Amino acid sequence: MRLQRLTYAAALIQLCLIQAQNPLQYPSSSPEETLLDDAFNRKVLEHFHIPGLAISIVHDGKAFAQGYGYSGISTSTPVTENTLFFTGSTTKAHTSAAISLLMDDNNNFPQIQWNTPIHTLLPSDFTLSNPSLTSQITITDMLSHRSGLPRHDIVLLQNITTQQIIQRTKHLPLTAEIRMEFHYFEVVSGLPIATFLKERLWTPLGMDETYMDIEPAGRYITRTSTARGMSSRLCSDYANWVSALLEREAPISKEGYTALFGAHSIVSGVVSEPFSGPNYKGHTLIQHGGSQDGFGALVVMLPGEGFGVTVLGNEMVGTNGASWVLAFELIDRVLGVAGEERFGWEALVDAQLQQSKLTNDTLSALYPTLPPTSELLPYPLDLSSYEGIYTHPAYPILRISSTCPERTPLKNPEKWTGSRLCASFENHAAFASELELDIFHVTGTYWTLVFWFAGRGDAARVEFRISPGGGVSEVGVDFEPGMKVRGEKIWLTRV
Ligand SMILES: *[C@@H]1O[C@H](CO)[C@@H](O)[C@H](O)[C@H]1NC(C)=O
Ligand SMILES: *[C@@H]1O[C@H](CO)[C@@H](O)[C@H](O)[C@H]1NC(C)=O
Repeated sequence: MRLQRLTYAAALIQLCLIQAQNPLQYPSSSPEETLLDDAFNRKVLEHFHIPGLAISIVHDGKAFAQGYGYSGISTSTPVTENTLFFTGSTTKAHTSAAISLLMDDNNNFPQIQWNTPIHTLLPSDFTLSNPSLTSQITITDMLSHRSGLPRHDIVLLQNITTQQIIQRTKHLPLTAEIRMEFHYFEVVSGLPIATFLKERLWTPLGMDETYMDIEPAGRYITRTSTARGMSSRLCSDYANWVSALLEREAPISKEGYTALFGAHSIVSGVVSEPFSGPNYKGHTLIQHGGSQDGFGALVVMLPGEGFGVTVLGNEMVGTNGASWVLAFELIDRVLGVAGEERFGWEALVDAQLQQSKLTNDTLSALYPTLPPTSELLPYPLDLSSYEGIYTHPAYPILRISSTCPERTPLKNPEKWTGSRLCASFENHAAFASELELDIFHVTGTYWTLVFWFAGRGDAARVEFRISPGGGVSEVGVDFEPGMKVRGEKIWLTRV
């Protein structure tokens, strides 16, 4: 991943004004205010090249929220009480909360229980490539990322409806047994989820400016890059949300909170510093991040301390890193962790960002056993023979061409024969219009796909199959990381 080079000037500060019907108090000068170290926060913003972000804190029933920087890269509009952010995967908790409300309503939804198999609710749409798993996967499995279905993020780049995405799951390879791994997938209830969330969750919680999509028109934040709609929010609404979770308030029931905060799956068997199991310095910690192109988010709660922090920013990679630095600065202050006992979050995040950059080393790692460049094998057919349309029942339609624009920042990999193809997704969603795909020839039938999107780069192995008739018949791409580690590709057929 390449950090976007952003023009960035001195940060401006704005308080987030809070709605009147809000159950929380937002004193103009509160103990929470002193928790926020403006100089520190501005330094972090600058270090991670983020145009703007908002932080909200909830502590002992009081809330404080503040914005830093600008609402976009080419604007001098500061982040204010009106600034909306896309909140990415932090909205998964809203989905779970909404489903808990259906669980509570046994008069109207007796069929919806935590252990209800999804297939019984969506019999014609929801099937997986393994029929026995189809009948077993329950609502809890889906919401706990333990369905066995890996992310398959590329599928979501298409201009198709949520229903079509669900229908295509039967064509997606599974990488893990049920209840084994942390996987992403969201299920839509049979109800219009946007209306349900607004009426049953957000309005009761005073979250009046939380939306399912980029509405109301013109109010959403200036994008730093392409973004797609899920849910947007200003920092004070998330303070209401976090406060309700901490206090276990309505509309979510006691039973609902038990299910939401219960442990459902082991995300990683590896415990690394500064954590010692599912807690931080002996305190239970509940968190979920969010990423989408152009935006990052993090919600962290310490229920035992009645403390929660939300960080929302308008640059994805930077905010995903900065949010940990910012959140743990506050958590350490609340817990009174002394300077010398504090963990070096900034150094850890810097090292991770460095590692995730696309370099020659990333490309060599895809094919660790390659001979010297002079011994690489030629490709067996003319470059133009690889051109064409390639399809898969679930993945986007891939158009491969041998007439390519000059564009990829990494246009000179270390090990390649000097030939390049390029590709595009025919049916991409509007937000994916800036996607750039280049395919560098490595050796024989092996190639490397370099993928640039919203300032991030990634690489995958590519392999072409040639039919006995002598034409290119299929292309295999390491699109799915969960399959890549097992050496399995997604194969698209040439039409
Ligand atoms: C990758 O390696 C090539 C060939 O050695 C070199 O010309 C190029 O500058 C390198 N690119 C990067 C981004 O390091
Ligand atoms: C996406 O699909 C809809 C409905 O088929 C169509 O109206 C719209 O123009 C498409 N958008 C893009 C970016 O192709």
